[in-house]
Amino acid sequence: MTGKMTLTFQYIEETDSTNTQLKMAAERNIPEGTVLSAGRQTAGRGRSGHTWESPMGASVYTSLLLYPTQIPDDRLALLTPLAALAVCDAIDNLTGLSAQIKWVNDVLLSGKKVCGILTERIVTDEGRVAVIIGIGINVHQKEFPPEIAGMATSVDMELARREKMPDATGGTDGECRTTPRPIHRKALTEAVWQRFISYYEAFIREKNLAYVQSAYNDRLVNKDRRCRVLDPGGAYEGTALGIDDAGRLLVERTDNGAVAAVDAGEVSVRGIYGYV
Ligand code: BTN
Repeated sequence: MTGKMTLTFQYIEETDSTNTQLKMAAERNIPEGTVLSAGRQTAGRGRSGHTWESPMGASVYTSLLLYPTQIPDDRLALLTPLAALAVCDAIDNLTGLSAQIKWVNDVLLSGKKVCGILTERIVTDEGRVAVIIGIGINVHQKEFPPEIAGMATSVDMELARREKMPDATGGTDGECRTTPRPIHRKALTEAVWQRFISYYEAFIREKNLAYVQSAYNDRLVNKDRRCRVLDPGGAYEGTALGIDDAGRLLVERTDNGAVAAVDAGEVSVRGIYGYV
């Protein structure tokens, strides 16, 4: 591929799942760079077979179709951390908030999940490899059900929280300093995908994550935190150091000081102190 990929944005009020729709679109050879967003999803899907609640109006539900011929199959999983970085950049740029990443690809605000990413690879009936990157971002929710309230947040909730914080000079009694600028789902969606395409095109050249490693590690909420690695060969504890250029989490083991490179596809890592 040469030059910047053209993105084509489509919006529908309701669908089953924007990922599912783009999988079907890939069978019809719909062009790479097609973005499908929906007002609500009736069968939104999360990772590990979970459902992704997708009510009308509150969130961004958006997916991008790629035919990544220049990326080896075993590197396709790295598109997800790139999408996480793109979401962080877009949120920060549009709101002034500071998004973080929980390895490998959950995006957090104030330590709570604001965005999930589901990347799927298919081989079409014609034998063409397609990748669909699906992103769900909580934008306008004002609250969450008690069972997830400790783990989930929205952009609006974080903007409201920031406005209530006393300012740095210490004395507003929680009054608003400025009126928060409302965030628009369409603008956020476009900012995310434009940013993602820049990362994607660089990735095609670079073939690994070295060029974003420090940007990613700066946002990594796990960094320097204790974690428990659920390795099939035996669980162990350690301190997360950051990712390497293959997106693996480097963990310094507490028992022997060795640094293990943990692959997201094989092993799960849990924070020892709560959600992160
Ligand atoms: C996760 O489990 O954290 C990933 C959630 C991904 C949800 C998004 S919403 C848009 C796209 N369509 C889907 O059905 N899922 C993804």
